[in-house]
Amino acid sequence: MAEQQTLQEHNIPQHVAVIMDGNGRWAKQRRLQRMFGHRNGVDAVRAIAEAAAEQGVKYLTLYAFSTENWARPKIEVNALMSLLVDAIDKEEVTLNRNNIKFTTIGDAPALPQKVQSKLKNIIRSTAKNTGMTLVIALSYSGRWDITTAVRQMCRDAEQGKLSAADVDEALLASYLSTSGMPDPDLFIRTGGDLRVSNFLIWQIAYSELYFTPVLWPDFGKQHFAEAIKEFQKRERRFGRVTEE
Ligand code: IPE
Ligand code: IPE
Ligand code: MG
Repeated sequence: MAEQQTLQEHNIPQHVAVIMDGNGRWAKQRRLQRMFGHRNGVDAVRAIAEAAAEQGVKYLTLYAFSTENWARPKIEVNALMSLLVDAIDKEEVTLNRNNIKFTTIGDAPALPQKVQSKLKNIIRSTAKNTGMTLVIALSYSGRWDITTAVRQMCRDAEQGKLSAADVDEALLASYLSTSGMPDPDLFIRTGGDLRVSNFLIWQIAYSELYFTPVLWPDFGKQHFAEAIKEFQKRERRFGRVTEE
């Protein structure tokens, strides 16, 4: 692929975070039920996970279900949960073959029991893999993440393990669900909307943002390569001035 050949190998984002949006509209365009869009979205997940691993991305975080998505019709929520269970069953072998470590962020106890146990199994079965880490955000929101972190910090303070003077950015980050992971270098949202929708709000403070109108089920390896190419054109200043 021409796009991939022109990528600079020394400047691949370590961590890419993606809001996979547009499944419903993809289905609507075809006069199909929203669920067909979600089903085709799984193929895009496979393609992008593969592309990211090939490019040398270390962490790929995909927003699959937000805290706010619980407010969708029950039938859609249930269908998404069973799609998740099916996808885990189908992809376990591929993940292991590609040395990909699977993990999740989000309020796991809020998920149906069956989903929880499937997730536990696949996390365990891929735990020793040393290639890319694939992080799926499930029942996740940035405000949930920060609130949960602060609650745990308060508990630790109550038990005398922590005092106010200990609190700095690094400590707070260590209480977040992404503890130990680098912040996303590149943040991608498909589907054309220009918002963050409560995804990794703390962690994307200095991410490069990339928005594309392409609907998630249509987002393929070439699109991913284009996003990385755009990332490689950006000058990341982190508030400093460009060195002469
Ligand atoms: C994203 O696609 C997938 C989930 C939120 C689960 P949508 O379902 O939000 O699709 P649109 O935005 O309605 O097209
Ligand atoms: C964001 O998409 C959440 C996921 C992709 C899982 P939404 O479709 O839920 O976000 P809004 O409603 O456009 O903000
Ligand atoms: Mg949407």
